[in-house]
Amino acid sequence: MKHHVLILDFGSQYTKLIARRIRDLNVYSEIVPFNLPVEEIERRAPGAIVLSGGPSSVYARNAPLVSRRILELGIPVLGICYGLQLIAHLSGMSVQPAREREYGLATLDIIASKQKSRLLHDVSNHSKVWMSHGDKIGQFPDDFFVSGKTDNSEVAVIESHPRRIYGVQFHPEVVHTQEGGQIIANFLFSIAGLKAEWNMESFIQSSLKSIRQQVGTDTVLLGLSGGVDSTVLALLLRRAIKDQLVPVFINTGMLRKNEYSDLMKKFKEELNLNVIGIDASAVFLKNLGRTRSPEKKRKIIGKTFIDVFRDVEKKIGRVRFFAQGTLYPDVIESVSVNGPSVTIKSHHNVGGLPELANWTLVEPFKELFKDEVRKIGRELGLDEKFINRHPFPGPGLGVRIIGAITPDKVKKLQDVDAILIEELHNFDLYNRVWQAFTVLLPVRSVGVMGDIRTYENVAVIRIVDSVDGMTADWYPAPHEFLKRVSNRIVNEVKGINRVTYDLTSKPPGTIEWE
Ligand code: XMP
Repeated sequence: MKHHVLILDFGSQYTKLIARRIRDLNVYSEIVPFNLPVEEIERRAPGAIVLSGGPSSVYARNAPLVSRRILELGIPVLGICYGLQLIAHLSGMSVQPAREREYGLATLDIIASKQKSRLLHDVSNHSKVWMSHGDKIGQFPDDFFVSGKTDNSEVAVIESHPRRIYGVQFHPEVVHTQEGGQIIANFLFSIAGLKAEWNMESFIQSSLKSIRQQVGTDTVLLGLSGGVDSTVLALLLRRAIKDQLVPVFINTGMLRKNEYSDLMKKFKEELNLNVIGIDASAVFLKNLGRTRSPEKKRKIIGKTFIDVFRDVEKKIGRVRFFAQGTLYPDVIESVSVNGPSVTIKSHHNVGGLPELANWTLVEPFKELFKDEVRKIGRELGLDEKFINRHPFPGPGLGVRIIGAITPDKVKKLQDVDAILIEELHNFDLYNRVWQAFTVLLPVRSVGVMGDIRTYENVAVIRIVDSVDGMTADWYPAPHEFLKRVSNRIVNEVKGINRVTYDLTSKPPGTIEWE
């Protein structure tokens, strides 16, 4: 048995949270599509299986179903919400629409004796749980017993010790379920017998080994973006392969104000990285020309990155490997229930560096969430200020200047952005939000400054809160802070006479504007 958990995804908005909760308990967990063949599940030999929630009804025509054999592998199974109904359905129980949809907080009544219930061991009676379902379970076979109910769900928790199958109607993974952590821990440790061995130190040790195995004595090219992920990756790779690592930091001309020189200094002097710096601003801006379409801009920027890396290759000799700081949320969308999701934006660091052709990718963080990468950064000695930097997109200000990009617009946006970031620090807000930035609109509006009529550009402030960038809420920034930032921008940046605040969450918006 391996000490990891496979989470079969039936499309719940909470699936990623299940993975998070399990990892927080120091057990490695991985999300896979619900239709992963049983043979493949058997081959991977997980220590436990979780069936996630999902928006469907098991009796619907196109419901995502799995083979009954999943319940017969002898691997402990926990079904959550839809997962519970699926267990019921596959075990011959009846599942029907409930009279009313149950959504929100409910009180859990433990109806089996404490000794009998393993899943609810050490869970207090009348603890609050989070419900979100429209179906209910009717009869169930003899080898199951019901250990918990709520006012609206007669069958809120079922257990079968001989079959090692368990199910809950509520969502133990969301914070609103008071003792959800205890329930998941009961399943992982006392029921499935897993060990809490997953931590960042063990991750570092095992990835050092696998990186060395993968690349042998070859050279690995790494694009430093100035962000946390690629910097932490550089530190990990250097530890693994020393001088075989060639980190490259490219100035696209669309970085933040002074970022190129500040970071070159940091990489070289503080982190002792043997980095090659290339100022390719002119090439990027020339290739972009008057291009206005967001997707075309992204493609041109991606292609220019490759050209610059190819030039590096010409100088240092044949390269076989290219390292990227791709994270789990970047890859996860492609395993969603409905298959690969539509391309909303081509993120250049997600398997998308065009024409990678003969470079093999090295992506040790593909299984990690951002805060896990941050933990690795800490273990590898990166300072807290750098670790807490906001994410910054590869195409940089290129996707924050709406429409065609010119050096003059870049300069304007760099100045606007620098004011925002400085004030976030002054107001002690920087570390409270996921990401904050400004956008330059190709729109002019009329204003008055002194006695003079102005007709200048509009800048947008965007500040969002998020856990992983997949969804985000706009941040209700304090008025005093907004007032200060807006005053400074209009007074200090020539060419901006109006500032607006973006009130759009994701979905329906995306975090970046392009
Ligand atoms: P969106 O705009 O898709 O952004 O809601 C989600 C997160 O991803 C970042 N982002 C990018 N990162 N290359 C990157 O490395 C890109 O092309 C890119 N586009 C968006 C964005 O800043 C946010 O954190």
